[in-house]
Amino acid sequence: MHKGKEMSDKVQRRKVDHISICLKENVESPTSAGFEHLHLVHNSLPEIDFEEVNPSTSIFGHKLSFPFLFDSITGGPKETKAINQAISEVAQEKSLGLFLGSVRSALEDPSTKDTYIVARDVAPDIFLAVNIGAPQLSRNFDLDKLKNFISDVKADALVVHLNPLQEVIQVDGEPYFRGVYEKIRYIVKNVNLPVIVKEVGAGISKETAAKLELAGVSAINVAGLGGTNWAIVESIRSRKLGDHSKGALGKLFSIWGIPSVVSLIECAQNVKIPLISSGGVRSGLDIAKSLVLGAKYGAMALPVLKSVKKSKLDLSSFVDQLLFEFKTAMFLTGCRSVTELKTVRYFIDSYLRSWLER
Ligand SMILES: Cc1cc2nc3c(=O)[nH]c(=O)nc-3n(C[C@H](O)[C@H](O)[C@H](O)COP(=O)(O)O)c2cc1C
Repeated sequence: MHKGKEMSDKVQRRKVDHISICLKENVESPTSAGFEHLHLVHNSLPEIDFEEVNPSTSIFGHKLSFPFLFDSITGGPKETKAINQAISEVAQEKSLGLFLGSVRSALEDPSTKDTYIVARDVAPDIFLAVNIGAPQLSRNFDLDKLKNFISDVKADALVVHLNPLQEVIQVDGEPYFRGVYEKIRYIVKNVNLPVIVKEVGAGISKETAAKLELAGVSAINVAGLGGTNWAIVESIRSRKLGDHSKGALGKLFSIWGIPSVVSLIECAQNVKIPLISSGGVRSGLDIAKSLVLGAKYGAMALPVLKSVKKSKLDLSSFVDQLLFEFKTAMFLTGCRSVTELKTVRYFIDSYLRSWLER
């Protein structure tokens, strides 16, 4: 078999396993992202009507009905085309943005490209970004192949995911991170699109954020600890595949990482580039809290996957509910526009204080 096709088949099987485990098992972190430990100060005299609340914003020139993005999930296996199509249709209808899942399958086997391109076909106007993993930058990276794919998808941005915890626990993982920072600097200079860097559930520290800002990265998605837990996902998968050493490793490291709220607070204090809050964001209130802390957007993966697997209509209602929750938080803090959220006062309880004092 052709080497690229063989690799793509392996990557696709892994994606199918990930989706199935995330849907069937409890893969949420045993420890919290921190949102319930942060309380926005209530304003009993908001001096606005609920209908005056304007939740709209924009991302790299694209309008968003509210600051919510569908985080990276999928592409590659043929069954993922329907998932990407349904999420993109909802994104188009509701004026929201979408990060596609890792491009790995398509780079190894171009016959899988349609599972990603479908997003642009059904959502011509949305902010749409493609996604590549750090290990793919570290070894045998081909910029021209990536640029061709970006142009096929008509993407508006490139996302690079940093996932060292996941790679080390994954059966056949690729914990290759040497040279990744230089490669990020290289693609920032050569890709001619905004480059966004994200984690996948272990958070970004202020030191890493500062390095990424220095490299010219356009935005950071903190994707902290507290939501989908990749140590747990890979631990379950490793056990199923008979690798009990990696299974035990995943269990041990399931509380490893920086809770999303803590990551967000320390990144916001140290960098000026836009921040995306994710990793355990589970409501419109969590999105509002994220903006108060300095994020420009909130994003979700697992709840979106669970909802879209029920139906496109379910995802559409889920998004409407998020918007209702977000607008309610704006109303109760007296904010007419999303930029005003930054000025809202908040309390943190002892759980968060203990993290921030370290
Ligand atoms: C089934 C599934 C597949 C994912 N695939 C990718 C991926 O290909 N690339 C990536 O950067 N993140 C991927 N993620 C991680 C999410 O984008 C996100 O960072 C993480 O799940 C935390 O958000 P959550 O708690 O809202 O799920 C995936 C998440 C899920 C649930």
